[in-house]
Amino acid sequence: MPKSDYEKPSIVRHTMGMMNEFGRPSGQNHCYEIDGVPVESLVKEYGSPLIVFSESTIRERHAELHRAFSLRYPKIQIAWSYKTNYLNAICAIMHQEGSWAEVVSEYEYEMAKNLGIKGNHIVVNGPYKPDSFLMNAVKDKAMINIESLDEIYTLEKIASAYGEAVEVGMRINMDTGMLTAWERFGVNLESGQAYEVAKRIVSGGKLKLVGLHSHIGTFILDPKFYQQQAISLCTFASRLKDEFGISLKYINIGGGFASRNRLKSTYLPTTYMAPSFDAYAESICNIILGAFPHDNLPTLFLETGRALVDESGYLISTVGSTKRLPSGIRALILDAGVNIAVTSYWYDLEILPVQDRGYFMEDHVIFGPLCMNIDVCRDLVKLPLLNKGDNVVIRPFGAYNVTQWTQFIRMRPPVLLLGMNGEMDVIREAEDVTYLKQKEKLPKRLEPANSVGSVNRE
Ligand SMILES: Cc1ncc(COP(=O)(O)O)c(C=O)c1O
Repeated sequence: MPKSDYEKPSIVRHTMGMMNEFGRPSGQNHCYEIDGVPVESLVKEYGSPLIVFSESTIRERHAELHRAFSLRYPKIQIAWSYKTNYLNAICAIMHQEGSWAEVVSEYEYEMAKNLGIKGNHIVVNGPYKPDSFLMNAVKDKAMINIESLDEIYTLEKIASAYGEAVEVGMRINMDTGMLTAWERFGVNLESGQAYEVAKRIVSGGKLKLVGLHSHIGTFILDPKFYQQQAISLCTFASRLKDEFGISLKYINIGGGFASRNRLKSTYLPTTYMAPSFDAYAESICNIILGAFPHDNLPTLFLETGRALVDESGYLISTVGSTKRLPSGIRALILDAGVNIAVTSYWYDLEILPVQDRGYFMEDHVIFGPLCMNIDVCRDLVKLPLLNKGDNVVIRPFGAYNVTQWTQFIRMRPPVLLLGMNGEMDVIREAEDVTYLKQKEKLPKRLEPANSVGSVNRE
C-alpha cells in the first residue's frame, strides 16, 4: 500500500449536521460522469480545466419551457437571451428548438444574424442602443423595445428617413411587490411615465406602438411576482386600447425564471426553491388569456435565459494543491477560478468530487489559481479529503459564465459539447498567448531587438 503524504496534524471539530425538516444533510455526492461519459476520460482527452455542455439537457429544458407555456396559452414565442450564453453552438441549439434571439448590443445582433436569424426574429433590448444600431434594426424590421424618450426621438428621425411608420414596443418597469424593484430599465408604470411615453409615441405619428416589454429581475423564486407583472401589463394594455385604440401584437415578460442553482445565503436547497416552468406559466398565462379577446391575442414572448441553460453546463477542474489555513480549515487550490466561474460571486455553485476519497467529510474553502485574494469559488463546503490531482465538477455552470469570463491571469479553457448521439465536439478552443495578443501592437521602438537593456542612464 503506498505511503500517504505527511500532513501536519490539526484538531477538527466534527459536526455531524443537525436534522432539519428535510431529514439528515444529504450524504456525499459525486459526479462520475456527464451524459454517460466518465469525467476522468474527458480530462484525459481534453485536459483540465474543461467546460462541458450537455446538448440533451438544453433541448429538454427548452421543450419543458415550451410545453409549460404552450399548454396554457396558444401564441407563445421564446427569444433566446444571448447575453446568458452566446457560444455559437449553444445559440444554434436554441434556434433549432424554435427560439428567436434576444440581444442587448450590436455585436450580439451580429452574432444572431451570422447564425441565420432574420432581423424580424430578433428582439432588441438594452439601455444603450447607438443610433447606427437602431438604424440597422429598423432596416431589418427587428422588434425594438424602446427604453427612453431619446430612443423615441432617434427612431422618429429614422422613420422619417424611411418614409414609413416603425413598429416598436416599450419596456416598462414596475412594482411587483419584490423587495427591490428594478427601476433603471425602461419607463416607470406607477408614476405615469409609461402612459406619457405611450402618448408621446402615438402623438408623434411616426412610430407604431405594438408591444409591451418588461423584465422584472433575475432568479425570481416566487411566481406571484410574475402574476403581478402580468396583471399590470394587461391593465396598461387595456388603457392603451381604450384611450388610443392600440391593439397590441405582443406582450413580452422578459426572463428571470430561477435555475436549480443556489443564490448565496438562501436557506433552502435549490430543489425546494426553484419553481417549475409549469408553476410560472400557471401564474402568467391565465391573466393574459383573460385580458384579451381570444380572436386577437397578443403573442406572449419569453426571454428565459438562466433557467434554460444553467443546468446544462459543467466546469471540470483539478486540485492543484491542498493546504491548511491558520484557522485550521482545509483549503483546495483548483486550476479554475473566478475568472471562469464568475457566477461564484453570487451563487454557491455545487462542487462535486469525481474520485472516491472515503466518507469522512470536512469543511473546505475552495480557491482558484489566481494570485488574487478574491479568487474564492466557495467559502465553505463539506468535501471528502481530496488530494492534488483529484478532479471536481462545478455546476450548474451554463448561465452567464461563458459570457462574463475573462482571461485574467489564466486563459479561458476549451468548451466541449456532448451531443445527443455520443458526439464530442470542441465548440471553443482553449486560448493561448497568440490569441490574447492578436489585437495588440508593439511600437517598433519597443521591439525586443531595440528595447532590451537599451536604456543607458549613465
Ligand atoms: C431584457 C432581459 N431579458 C432576458 C434576460 C434573461 O434573464 P434570465 O437569465 O434571468 O432569465 C435578461 C437578463 O438580465 C434581460 O435583461
